Amino acid sequence: MRQNIVAGNWKMNNDLSQTETLITALKKQKHRSDVEVMIAPSFTNLWNAFEALRQSDIEVVAQNMHFAENGAYTGEVSAAMLKSIGIQTVILGHSERRAYFNEDDALLAKKVDAALANDMRVVFCFGEELADRKAGNEEAVVESQIKNALFHLEASAFKNIVLAYEPVWAIGTGETASPEQAQDMHKFIRETLSNKYGKALGDNMSILYGGSVKPANAKEIFSKPDVDGGLIGGAALNAADFYAIVNAF
Ligand code: 13P
Repeated sequence: MRQNIVAGNWKMNNDLSQTETLITALKKQKHRSDVEVMIAPSFTNLWNAFEALRQSDIEVVAQNMHFAENGAYTGEVSAAMLKSIGIQTVILGHSERRAYFNEDDALLAKKVDAALANDMRVVFCFGEELADRKAGNEEAVVESQIKNALFHLEASAFKNIVLAYEPVWAIGTGETASPEQAQDMHKFIRETLSNKYGKALGDNMSILYGGSVKPANAKEIFSKPDVDGGLIGGAALNAADFYAIVNAF
């Protein structure tokens, strides 16, 4: 089911006490029941965040995971470990994972499979770099990222997938895609899914936009027909700003 979602990706920010302080502030905020809210703290703080938000309508999600069930992968965290503390959703394919940790489409396909095999939901991120857009290749890049990591899946798997289009040139730069650029790409993404799996599946996909979403621009971006919400970085670190975005629908 297509769903409005706003997810805060905290990235490598907030130690334990900062996590507790921000969660206390988030719990004082209110949002419409037809908007799903997620936050993604770092691994060390997931359990505390999960406990603190257990009775709330904010879902705590992970920023990453490994594809293996367990084993000799020093420094990594498995789907089963996340599930064992109650985490149901994981962000995969973030451009920072792709750029700094060499995560390519083939690896991401394995991670997606592992998450789905463990009955987890995936927020799958992708997006073109500035050079791709300047060359007019943004649709080709996005299409290949989606195809390579997701098109081996059965249609039924997509009920557990949320897509997040994050143009790399708009992440943390203060430069956002224009609402029209976001809409054009989201429409293209929906059509790409529809062409492969049928119109009903494309129409039902939740597709989030990420990249310098702020209280000042969220309303216009979210008003676009193919934009179902946002994946928020910097502005998710402040409770008032984050909830101004959550309430921008
Ligand atoms: P910013 O909102 O800081 O641009 O980050 C976007 C992002 O990468 C969310 O995953």
